Amino acid sequence: MKALILSGGKGTRLRPLTYSGAKQLVPVANRPILFYCIDNIAQVGIKEIGIIISPETGQEIKETVGDGSLWNVKIHYILQDTAGGLAHAVKIARDFLKDSPFVMYLGDNLIGGGIDRFLQEFEKNSPDALILLKEVEEPKNFGVAEVSQTGEIIRLIEKPDEPPSNLALIGIYIFSHNIHKAIDLIQPSKRGELEITDAIQKLIDMGLSVESFILDGWWLDTGKKDDLLTANVIVLDEWLKSDIQGTVDNESRILGRVAIGKGSVIKGSNIRGPAIIGENTVIENSFVGPYSSIGNNVKIRHSAVEHSVIMDGSELNDVERMEGSLIGRRVKLFRNKRHKALRLMVGDDSIVEV
Ligand code: DAU
Repeated sequence: MKALILSGGKGTRLRPLTYSGAKQLVPVANRPILFYCIDNIAQVGIKEIGIIISPETGQEIKETVGDGSLWNVKIHYILQDTAGGLAHAVKIARDFLKDSPFVMYLGDNLIGGGIDRFLQEFEKNSPDALILLKEVEEPKNFGVAEVSQTGEIIRLIEKPDEPPSNLALIGIYIFSHNIHKAIDLIQPSKRGELEITDAIQKLIDMGLSVESFILDGWWLDTGKKDDLLTANVIVLDEWLKSDIQGTVDNESRILGRVAIGKGSVIKGSNIRGPAIIGENTVIENSFVGPYSSIGNNVKIRHSAVEHSVIMDGSELNDVERMEGSLIGRRVKLFRNKRHKALRLMVGDDSIVEV
């Protein structure tokens, strides 16, 4: 079994953060989303992982992920010149995949609970595709499955105007080599992409076996700000352990599960977990509330922050209250007038004065 992670694409929905970086590297609880995908794959013992990268963000992904030794796996980078669709990505990975069955994992999808149970399900009957489904409120934004009362897949449609059900396709699939035959037979969709959803439908049309598995745990497609903040909440809730490596002065109070990285300094501040603070960050006369992820080299002074993600190198000064915000790298945010609450999505290198 091999794995193919799709980490190319354009990331338009997370702009402006993705003007200057890959969406799969946006942090959740201070780790890139992509790392959670690799964790799940490495955990089931898969050793050969192909990662699809784009010309724009490929170098940054290579530098951040490396050769796989962090996970004791071998990573092969596969360059996709244009974002031609998910099935196009599989097509160009064919030399790497050969005839091996493989897990295909979209690099912006996060799920709770690992992928071992899906692998076991695949190994039971060795179908040509195992897809994961989950009920969602807005099926129009996803691939959607029509399923019979006995649980058989009748039809799959990508982002339908009139969804036949609310069962969305999650971005984790397991395929046999027959998926390559199906991909060779499909045409680009309305949005000009070779859709993996159409390729799986083709497997059904060819009389090959497509099985489904309903995910009972949580799943997030982290393409948008609110999804990302929700992912941050869930990951901090489930995985964060108290670990204080920085310095906390006597005037500060730490409550609940809080992690503070090396070289960080907390002065006269209250930190209420679950919250994570990276390395070499300074927090002075401030409140950092639950569900906050603060990166490395951040400075927060005379401010109150909660339920937010603040990326590396940003500075907050006199920000009375900030919540539900996603702040990129090297952002400067400071106050010169009185306001009650701020709700922001600010891109890298921005300077905001409110
Ligand atoms: O998240 C689940 C959904 O993912 C499914 O329900 C849909 O059926 C599936 O088509 C896909 O839809 P999205 O519109 O969310 O896909 P997106 O364009 O965001 O791409 C998903 C990942 O694949 C992302 O990490 C970027 C990468 N990608 C995308 C394209 C189009 C590539 O590596 N190459 C590509 O050509």
